[in-house]
Amino acid sequence: MKSPHEPILSRYSGAAQKHGYVRDLFNRGAEHYDRIGRIGFLGTGNVYRRRALQKAGLKPGMDVVDVACGTGAVTRPILEIVGAEGSVVGIDPSEGMLGEARREVTGEGVDFRLGRAESLPVDDASCDFLTMGYALRHVEDLAEVFEEYRRVLKPDGRLLILEISRPKGRLGLALTRFYFRDLVPFISRLVTGSQDAREMMVYYWETIDACVPPEEIMAALERAGFRNIDRRVSLGIFSEYRADR
Ligand SMILES: C[S@@+](CC[C@H](N)C(=O)[O-])C[C@H]1O[C@@H](n2cnc3c(N)ncnc32)[C@H](O)[C@@H]1O
Repeated sequence: MKSPHEPILSRYSGAAQKHGYVRDLFNRGAEHYDRIGRIGFLGTGNVYRRRALQKAGLKPGMDVVDVACGTGAVTRPILEIVGAEGSVVGIDPSEGMLGEARREVTGEGVDFRLGRAESLPVDDASCDFLTMGYALRHVEDLAEVFEEYRRVLKPDGRLLILEISRPKGRLGLALTRFYFRDLVPFISRLVTGSQDAREMMVYYWETIDACVPPEEIMAALERAGFRNIDRRVSLGIFSEYRADR
């Protein structure tokens, strides 16, 4: 078993408790997530997400699964790109996040379902493109999840994972740590008045800090059988992992 990070014992008592903690955290923070995103604090705005999807080869008419859709920040640009001929299924384990998504992202081609990356409520070989935005850190086991992604992708399907990576250089790390660990939680609390919003953003950094390096994520993709794996990085921290099934 290869977890993306060791259990964070200041938050929950062991690996078995991680999923429940994360689900509860996002349920409590859901109503604030988009507001924090709008002031720019989830690292990447809609323009970035949209461009990453297009660069990775998302096209009109495709059928897409958006894992960890949350409030729909990746689902929305997917829907715009795939258009009326395509479709997107957004999947997330947090009822709270899904509630926001169902309210905010509507249209013929979109369907939101409760579920987890480890066991997707989707048929075998049913999608052309699979995305996961800023949530790989929260899964239990990389190998299990990548196997599941291969199950639901069509033979010529494509994968895009967006993630924030811990910078390697000392200065970059110090700046990123200040931004995500100190500034973002402080401003999130200030703007929303919510301790839950603050905790959601503190945990955001804690998992970035604890996550295995990009090389291990790419090696796990390769072991799972993905091909043409590459990683594009912006500003040293915003990673786009792309691979063919
Ligand atoms: C930081 S949000 C990202 C939301 C959205 N993709 C975005 O780009 O803003 C992380 C999401 O991952 C979800 N999540 C946590 N554990 C998960 C799992 N095991 N499988 C799928 N989604 C998970 C959370 O409920 C939350 O909605």
